Amino acid sequence: MGQPSESYSAVQLADGSYSVRSEVHQETFHPVVGSKVEARCVYFDPMRLEQRWGSRCNELCVWDVGLGSAGNALHLMRAHEKTPRKLRLHSFDKTLGGLRFALDHAEKFPYLHGFERPLETLMQESEVHFQWQHLEVHWKLHLGDLSQKGFMAPAHASARPDAILYDPYSPAKNPEMWSLGMFQSLATCLPTSATLATYSRSTSVRVTLLLAGFVVGKGGQVGEKEETTVAATTATLISPLLGAEWLRRASRSTNAEPIRTLPHQRSSMTHTTWQALLEHPQFQDISLDPRLLRPS
Ligand SMILES: C[S@@+](CC[C@H](N)C(=O)[O-])C[C@H]1O[C@@H](n2cnc3c(N)ncnc32)[C@H](O)[C@@H]1O
Repeated sequence: MGQPSESYSAVQLADGSYSVRSEVHQETFHPVVGSKVEARCVYFDPMRLEQRWGSRCNELCVWDVGLGSAGNALHLMRAHEKTPRKLRLHSFDKTLGGLRFALDHAEKFPYLHGFERPLETLMQESEVHFQWQHLEVHWKLHLGDLSQKGFMAPAHASARPDAILYDPYSPAKNPEMWSLGMFQSLATCLPTSATLATYSRSTSVRVTLLLAGFVVGKGGQVGEKEETTVAATTATLISPLLGAEWLRRASRSTNAEPIRTLPHQRSSMTHTTWQALLEHPQFQDISLDPRLLRPS
């Protein structure tokens, strides 16, 4: 189950490090700055994981959506190895091909070193418990297509996530993972205080997260990307939140409608979506004249 039906290669990045690339999807897992910097800038820092972990009795539950070559998962452990803490990690993927490829070419992926045995156990038994430096790790693997209805239920029943590393390729390559229905399902799994970070900063993805009930903010800068996206169940967990300037730009964007059905055609915002955004709690305190901005 979950063996590669796709082919992968190792791509060298400008800083000399390597990234796995899926030839089928034509997607490089960590395209610009490498997995370590990307993990910190896109996921850990915008979601304030260090600070939140410390304030939660040192136990954090993280959902790793798109295990891939385990870059985000292992950098999370390495970045938090110095303090005695517990990590409950749930990784999701529909294939272990990316991870198998990276392990078979481990000389190019130094972040894997030291984790070979737990990774093999995870792949064989879908679960592993181990100690990494001061960090106690309980790691579960959920293998299958996340866009299938109900797939998240087992993970949901065992642990609600404090934070989600959302990294399943891109809206252009697999729109089913970026649809309004997908984020609405995800939102039903969340406790009152949870965050989600993702590489995409597209207007359509941000509108989708807002309509699914998240508050949405600017995520970290990485490589040539000036900002990414971070979302949360509660406004106090993230900053800065998207405000009037973003709304103004969104009202003029040609890619502002959520993906509702497939195939999806990019389009500017409908009046219904615009009204829903104006009613979102995130935008209640900002001053703007909706008549000036309303999409035609
Ligand atoms: C960019 S890679 C993830 C890289 C990974 N986070 C890392 O740090 O190495 C995207 C991953 O998402 C997975 N994926 C894409 N669509 C999926 C789906 N519908 N269900 C489950 N996994 C999916 C792919 O198989 C791929 O391994």
